[in-house]
Amino acid sequence: MQNANAPLLTEALTQLHNPYPIYHRLRASDPVQWQADMSAWAVTSYADIVPGLRDNRLSAARLTIDSAWFPEEMRTTIDPVVLALTRQMLFLDPPDHSRLRGLVAKAFTPRVIEQLRGRMQEIVDQLLDTVQEKGEMDLVANFSYPLPAIVIAELLGVPAEDRDQFVQWTSSFGALLGGHDLTVEDVLQALLGVSEFISYFRNVIQQRRSAPRDDLLQAMIAAEEQGDKLSEEELLGNCVLLLAAGHGTTTHLISNGMLALINNPDQLEMLREDPSIISLAVLELLRYDSPVQLTSRTAIQSMCIGDKQIEEGQEVLFCLGAANRDPAQFAEPDRLNLRRQENRHLAFGQGIHYCLGAPLARVEAEIAFSTLVRRLRSPRLAIPETELEWSPSLVFRGLRSLPITFR
Ligand code: HEM
Repeated sequence: MQNANAPLLTEALTQLHNPYPIYHRLRASDPVQWQADMSAWAVTSYADIVPGLRDNRLSAARLTIDSAWFPEEMRTTIDPVVLALTRQMLFLDPPDHSRLRGLVAKAFTPRVIEQLRGRMQEIVDQLLDTVQEKGEMDLVANFSYPLPAIVIAELLGVPAEDRDQFVQWTSSFGALLGGHDLTVEDVLQALLGVSEFISYFRNVIQQRRSAPRDDLLQAMIAAEEQGDKLSEEELLGNCVLLLAAGHGTTTHLISNGMLALINNPDQLEMLREDPSIISLAVLELLRYDSPVQLTSRTAIQSMCIGDKQIEEGQEVLFCLGAANRDPAQFAEPDRLNLRRQENRHLAFGQGIHYCLGAPLARVEAEIAFSTLVRRLRSPRLAIPETELEWSPSLVFRGLRSLPITFR
């Protein structure tokens, strides 16, 4: 089971500035190994993760919250939240997953996303206009946080002014997904946060029923009104999912990516001199420091991954961040190479749950990075890199702030 010389995956939490050496050591010692402290298998090799995420013996229904954990008087608040959360497509298997994904997917076709380009460029330019003269900013607070929040709020059709409220709620949702070793109290706090998120959507949806508009939310409401296509819990749960998934991850991509460019000035210069490489560059930034480092599944029957027997009911942690640095798949995996070809990174996952928002996130990041390198000359860290604060999560990888200076 656990190789005596291998680090534990949870040691990555003590190396948040650079968890990659730990992944390399885990993979080299055994790419599929039991983590006693997490009671789960950790898979760190690209070759095992790709088929694993495509295997229907591994279920995505992994959100196990039992309302019996909570005091009786809390249950009327908590039960509907748990119901809505478990109806998110991310936690469902076919056929429910296929039905929900099909309903929402229409809003995320590359064609629809291309039409948003102009508006995204406008938001990017407005955000940079407010800091350009100052020569300094917190890239997270001033840019990488508001940009995706505004874009997803507009796409979904909720007021962008409400976005500051989404932060708290999104982080409550993230705590459920990203936390390990959560106490019942932690879970309760997170669920109460998500419950406000759900109440917010209940109100917005109520208003919409009397004053319809033409956007993604309206399309989802129409499906719910037809009854058999989308239940109310599914509508609420998936609104929360879209807003939460569409925002923190893209924030992390932009700030992790900008840090990588600042630390690799030759690459930053290359992108400035040749903006035509932007699509390849974004794929590489996604691979190099992935916003989602890990996802999990539960075995619904016994099976093998690599040479290991996984028993029914066991949890499997697929370390996407480790796969993206696997030397068997990527030459010089720890080097940022914006011209990297054949970049089949796993930052958006793999298989039926492959990120629905990937086309949106890619276009958003292309516009963001192209504009950042064009408009900000000589960007530098404003504080020593050792003082940067990373979110303490094995799932989401992102900076709390990124103070920079520029000309
Ligand atoms: C850089 C930004 C993003 C990254 C790195 C990312 C990453 C991921 C990953 C790894 C998964 C698969 C999780 C799993 O298999 O368990 C996923 C699923 C998903 N993502 Fe993203 N995501 C990003 C942006 C977005 C955006 C902008 C949206 C929506 C607006 C979005 C919506 C979703 C949804 C709805 C799913 C669930 C799909 C399903 O279950 O079929 N994501 N994302």
